[in-house]
Amino acid sequence: MARSMVVFQPEGKRLEITLGKTLLEAAKEIGLDLQSVCGGRGTCGKCRVILRQGMNHLSPISNAERQSLTESEIKNGFRLACQTIIEDQSTIVVEVPQQSRVGKQRLLLKGLERQVELMPSVRKFVIHLKKPSLKEVKSDADRLLDTIRDLTGKELKIDYETLKKIPHIIREGNWTVTAILWMDRELISIKPGEYLRDLYGLAVDIGTSKLAAYLVDLNMGEIVATASAANPQIPYGEDVISRISFVMKGETNLEELHRVIVTGINQLIRESCEKARIQTEEICDSTIVGNTAMHHIFLGIPPTYVSLSPYPAALQSSVDIKARELGVQINRGAYVHVLPNIAGFVGADAVADALATEIYRSEAISMLVDIGTNTEIMLGSKDWLVACSCASGPAFEGAQIKHGMRAATGAIEHVWINPETVEVGYKTIDDAKPSGLCGSGIIDAVAALLKAKIITLEGRFNSGLETPRIRRNEKTVEFVIAWRDETSTKNDIVITQNDIREVQKAKAAIYTGASILMKRMDVKSQDIQKIFVAGAFGNYVDPQSGKIIGMFPDVPLQNIQFVGNTAGSGARMALLSTEMRRLAEEVAKRIEYLELGADPDFQKEFLNATYFPHKEFGRFPNVAKLLRKD
Ligand code: FES
Repeated sequence: MARSMVVFQPEGKRLEITLGKTLLEAAKEIGLDLQSVCGGRGTCGKCRVILRQGMNHLSPISNAERQSLTESEIKNGFRLACQTIIEDQSTIVVEVPQQSRVGKQRLLLKGLERQVELMPSVRKFVIHLKKPSLKEVKSDADRLLDTIRDLTGKELKIDYETLKKIPHIIREGNWTVTAILWMDRELISIKPGEYLRDLYGLAVDIGTSKLAAYLVDLNMGEIVATASAANPQIPYGEDVISRISFVMKGETNLEELHRVIVTGINQLIRESCEKARIQTEEICDSTIVGNTAMHHIFLGIPPTYVSLSPYPAALQSSVDIKARELGVQINRGAYVHVLPNIAGFVGADAVADALATEIYRSEAISMLVDIGTNTEIMLGSKDWLVACSCASGPAFEGAQIKHGMRAATGAIEHVWINPETVEVGYKTIDDAKPSGLCGSGIIDAVAALLKAKIITLEGRFNSGLETPRIRRNEKTVEFVIAWRDETSTKNDIVITQNDIREVQKAKAAIYTGASILMKRMDVKSQDIQKIFVAGAFGNYVDPQSGKIIGMFPDVPLQNIQFVGNTAGSGARMALLSTEMRRLAEEVAKRIEYLELGADPDFQKEFLNATYFPHKEFGRFPNVAKLLRKD
């Protein structure tokens, strides 16, 4: 079969690849961390590479590339890796610029912490066994179970893998073993000798775009290590709908997405165990949360019907499954506890949010907005709770934004603009030279452009304003946030008209969800005593900026609390306490799911919400003071 050689610079990584494959496929095959947010459909423009050799042996520039790249970029050899097919035998040399790499992202791992009384599902016992004799030849397993029953009063069953180890281990430990019990129902692991000290568990939040794992000491209730990564399913589609479509397209596709996510989780397990210097085998329990689609795919359950009216989940209740059956590499006998779902895309992560914020026991009406590619919104109090989800897209995670990036070193996270001089100030993560804008930076930048009247309430650049920072070209209008001599990329960092459109769509999706819940429950902004804003942006979103762009209802600033990654916090609470698991089950049943698409006002409400802060300015009286319509 005819093959070509592809060399990726600056690393010099090379591989031979069959003709007909794309440069993105070549990059994946060799393990290069090239961004591919749209899954190779040519729409995100993130997989840019620069051709240094062999351009005549590749497919011609596609329409998708003409949309994403400027004429001068094309002249200088820029291509989208997902669109570039290797057609002839040759050596192709490709440079991968820093902006096209996934990079190490900084995730906001911690969320609001609640004190939980330690009641883990696993506990350890040291057991001294009586040696068998010719007069007493009880089997090894019965000897062990009878001794445990005498100590605890519990009748246990034995995990099959553990059963196979019993004869050797009890003799290796000279008839003293440490046993690990799960829910006082099952003997899931034994070790020779006394080994009481450490007992670990793992909580994982599977976000549509991000994975976060927390390794927790179950004796102390403390996090001992964390690890995070981009969700490795992203190349298959950036949002839940595109991943479900992928599942529906082929018989083995569900299996493939399941395998990819489990591989990603195993990578985080290894990373966190290395940090804590423990063996993966020492993790004896785990909890998982995610939206319904992520939940189903993780469990290998088809998520197909969740996306079809009336949007039922395949499974609502929590479930305990042996980690080894799912391929999760922790203790062979350990279980994975998957928290319960609600309905539609409002899944176990929203239940975890509710646990962490305690919205379910609040006297006053509160709202919870967990912003991600899929945003969950919950409204209510101790008396009632309703929830919905909206497809807000990945704009606030830096995707579909020209110079958007994940929250990593060099990302601009805060922006301010002097309305008199139009001069821009910004702050980057780790105070490094800027290389792009992360979610909080994008929200700040748009709010600052609005406050300085550089963009209008309709989201268009103010045509009367003359400043070198505003550039108009054949394709778009853009505003320079950082000049090239300030940046690490040696290119200007800009925010374009299209970026503003993406922000308008994302924030309108969120606000529409919030307003439809409020309308259904007859709640006004002034009735909401607290808005919890959750999400793993990488840093705190300035609530003022969020309010200015009209992302959530106009409540006094002090009523907005940024709570970080509460889905992760809730998963940890359930790891630490079986009582929290019971509570999660109860709360999930109490939350009523509302399908936004079924609301007759949805379209109108969404269009009105694309204005800054909203077409009905009166809904945002506090913001109106800042953005006077003059
Ligand atoms: Fe190539 Fe998105 S444009 S992966």
